[in-house]
Formats: sequence, structure tokens, C-alpha cells
Amino acid sequence: MKLVLLGAPGAGKGTQAVRIAAHLNIPHISTGDIFRKNLKEATPVGLKAKAYIDKGQLVPDEVTCEIVELRIKEDDCKNGFLLDGFPRNIAQAEALDKMTKIDKVINLDVDLKALADRLTGRRVCEKCGESYHVSTKKDETCDKCGGKLYQRADDTLETVNSRLTVYEQSTAPLIAYYKDKGVLVNVDGMQSIEAVFESVKKVL
Ligand code: AP5
Ligand code: MG
Repeated sequence: MKLVLLGAPGAGKGTQAVRIAAHLNIPHISTGDIFRKNLKEATPVGLKAKAYIDKGQLVPDEVTCEIVELRIKEDDCKNGFLLDGFPRNIAQAEALDKMTKIDKVINLDVDLKALADRLTGRRVCEKCGESYHVSTKKDETCDKCGGKLYQRADDTLETVNSRLTVYEQSTAPLIAYYKDKGVLVNVDGMQSIEAVFESVKKVL
């Protein structure tokens, strides 16, 4: 199955993507994770992306679309994949339409007012990418793999606010875009993490 996970910054895309990908045995492709990996390795793509990510802006479409096009051609995507954080505007969605046919788009529906707290309190495992929140996670070691937790550089309040504005202007219109195509399903992202996953499994 070829899936897209849609949702605002902090909606829980990464949290659910890990679970969905394991459940369906398909690769989880996060453009944000790809950029962060490139940044860590100081590749030309990583250095170019940094300027945009630090400001909470979108990395230019030509860079992002090429990365996705190459990634979904890889062998492990033969039986499907889960895109997290792509597409993020109408131009990217149109480019994706030209690359392949998406079976379903899961929109994690959340109250935007809850997201600044989720993001500024987020801690991520540097090894496996699992997300935690400081309100429920009191130490700095990943429960799943023992990796060290860190705070993302773009999870400051200022950058979070600009990411939310970019979401409302550029990404939110994708809800109507995919609804018109008849592939959109909405899931209430304000439930507990486990309840969201149960709802996702029901719509799959
Ligand atoms: P990206 O890495 O995709 O970030 P994002 O879209 O802003 O989303 P996040 O990863 O911040 O949130 P999430 O929805 O994954 O939430 P999570 O599960 O971690 O992109 C980063 C940057 O890269 C962009 O700003 C842009 O510059 C660039 N970029 C990426 N893709 C691009 C593209 N296609 N085009 C151009 N540029 C691109 O959860 C968040 C927190 O909430 C965690 O603490 C978690 O524990 C908690 N939480 C999760 N679910 C729940 C729940 N149900 N209840 C309570 N807490 C919850
Ligand atoms: Mg994420």
C-alpha cells in the first residue's frame, strides 16, 4: 500500500509512522529525517536544507521532490511505502501524482493550539527516531533502543510558530486536494498515541 501521512508539525506523524510502517511492513520515508541525516553528514543537500529548516521554511520543491522520486524507486518500496512530511504543498502533491499513484492519505486532525507545547517539549532518539515528550519522559535514554534523546534545533518556540504558519498557508490546502481525489481519511489526532494508532488501523 502507498500511503501519505498528512498533518501539522507535531500532529504525531513520526510517532504514528513508526507504528504503521512496522504494522504493514513497508518503509517509513520522512523527508524531515532525510534532511536531518544529510545535515548531520554535512552533505550539499543537508547544508542547503539547513538554512530553510532553521527558519521553519520549506526546502525548495526541486530539492525535495528529487529526493522522494529517487527514494521511492528503491527496491524496498516495491510493495508500498509510507510518506511522512511529503507532500507539503500543492506543487509537491502534483509532482507526486506524476511519480506514482497514492492509495490512501491519512490526515491526523489536531487542534493547532496544542502543538507548540507538543513540539517544544519533544525529545527524539538519535538512534531510532522515536519521539517522546518531557511531560511523560523523565530520563534521556530511549525505552526502545537505549539511544540518547536530543531536542531538535527547530523545536524552539520561534521556529515552531513559523512552521505552524507555513503549515496553514501551504500544507493545509492538501486536505481539500486529496479529499477531491477521494483518497483522504481523517483520524482524530488528539486522542492518546495508542488510540490514534487503533483509529489508523481501522481506516487502513
Ligand atoms: P519534519 O521533520 O517533517 O517536521 P514537521 O512536519 O514539522 O513535523 P514534526 O516532525 O515536527 O512533527 P510530527 O507530526 O512528526 O510529530 P511527532 O510524532 O514527532 O520537517 C522539518 C523541516 O524539514 C520542515 O520545517 C522543512 O523545513 C523541512 N521539510 C521536511 N519535509 C519537507 C518537504 N516535503 N518540503 C519542504 N521542506 C520539508 O510528535 C510531536 C510530539 O508530540 C512528540 O513529543 C510526541 O511524543 C508527542 N505526541 C505525538 N502524538 C501524540 C498524541 N497523540 N498525544 C500527545 N502527544 C503526542
Ligand atoms: Mg516528524
